[in-house]
Amino acid sequence: MYDLDGRTALVTGGGAGIGRAIALRLAAEGCDIGILDLDLAGAEATAAEARALGRAAHAASGNVGERASAEAAVAALSAALGRVDILVNNAGILRTSPFLETTDAEWRGTFAVNLDGAFHCCQAVLPGMVARRAGAVVNVASWTGKKGVPNHAAYSASKFALIGLTQAIAGEMAAHGIRVNAVCPGIIVETRMREEAEERNRAQGLPDVATRLASIPLRRAGYPEDVANLVAFLASDQAAYMTGQAVNVTGGLWMG
Ligand SMILES: NC(=O)c1ccc[n+]([C@@H]2O[C@H](COP(=O)([O-])OP(=O)(O)OC[C@H]3O[C@@H](n4cnc5c(N)ncnc54)[C@H](O)[C@@H]3O)[C@@H](O)[C@H]2O)c1
Repeated sequence: MYDLDGRTALVTGGGAGIGRAIALRLAAEGCDIGILDLDLAGAEATAAEARALGRAAHAASGNVGERASAEAAVAALSAALGRVDILVNNAGILRTSPFLETTDAEWRGTFAVNLDGAFHCCQAVLPGMVARRAGAVVNVASWTGKKGVPNHAAYSASKFALIGLTQAIAGEMAAHGIRVNAVCPGIIVETRMREEAEERNRAQGLPDVATRLASIPLRRAGYPEDVANLVAFLASDQAAYMTGQAVNVTGGLWMG
């Protein structure tokens, strides 16, 4: 549909959930795929599914939050793929807690993955894109990167920052023929992050997904494929006139 035939895509956190759906959607669109994940078994499982779609696919274990680890994994996947045309910074973690109980470890750990991860991977991948004068980056932010949500201080702040990073890099990279956008998912089910969040929300007296459906105009939670559809569009030439955007995919939960 978006004609990505012959392109290559590196997806961080592609071993599960939304990242897995993004990797498989990009493979279905014709991309060869590289999966970078802390969980090598998950990354290898997604790569096997992408190969079953007829594409080349490679897996590498790495922690996007640690520069040396991220750089080594990106280098291995870039070498296997030949080059990286599309980078999807999807790896992220959510640790909810009341603000006054948020520890330094939760704060720093959240920023390390959700913000530093994109910083490290962009710095590792963009030089090749600059040299080729082509490329697309999609950062997976969140609707909580546009609206601060109780008990989500570290997560929300890291996603606001990720949108700021997206805009700053988009402005710099436009002259090099590279587009940089973000997606802002709402409540996406069938992911480990959501399952763990449900348990914590109940324990912290926050509303669960079933309760929150009433505030979603389209009256359903989102699925990883809903996010993957948007990422595929933004990565494609159909989005040739879009850069620096943070596009909601929330069922209308957030419209700003
Ligand atoms: N699920 C939701 O409701 C929701 C909503 C908005 C935004 N998001 C964002 O979407 C992205 C994916 O979320 P998900 O729900 O699929 O989560 P998930 O926990 O189901 O999957 C995340 C994947 O990222 C990997 N990962 C985690 N830390 C990593 C690290 N430091 N280095 C490399 N890989 C790492 C995990 O191993 C896992 O495979 C995240 O950035 C998240 O913040 C999710």
